[in-house]
Amino acid sequence: MSAYLFATINLIRYFLASPTILYYNRQCRWWESRKPKVSRNFLNYISVTFVDKDGEEKQIKVPIGMSMLEAAHQNDIELEGACEGSLACSTCHVIVMDVEHYNKLEDPTDEENDMLDLAFGLTETSRLGCQVIARPELDGLRLAIPAATRNFAVDGYKPKPH
Ligand code: FES
Repeated sequence: MSAYLFATINLIRYFLASPTILYYNRQCRWWESRKPKVSRNFLNYISVTFVDKDGEEKQIKVPIGMSMLEAAHQNDIELEGACEGSLACSTCHVIVMDVEHYNKLEDPTDEENDMLDLAFGLTETSRLGCQVIARPELDGLRLAIPAATRNFAVDGYKPKPH
């Protein structure tokens, strides 16, 4: 019985060390090394730069699916957002600095356009920060925060980040 066991172990050792297996292992390692190295960070976050009214820039990482308003609040960036994203104010007004990125955004809804009409310093590339959602194609987005906001609904109220 022990001779049978000994022979089986030797057979397995021989098989594992055989040139075919060694070649196969080497090929697997080579194949693994050829795979593109994509970091987890790259897949889940985009880089966004906020430029405040004094021209100071702050670059942050924004998770895919998060609005620019939430991202700003989580990173202590002064973007008001008085109605907390319910499309009832224009205090989260941001200006998309690159037309290329602006064109990649989904078209604003009628409700967003109505609120944008009330925004201070409206431009051709203005959007409401609560309606701009991080998507992979927006990586490198640059958003300027206007010098002032106009708030008819809840004047002076600044919501705290959640
Ligand atoms: S926070 Fe009021 S519309 Fe965006």
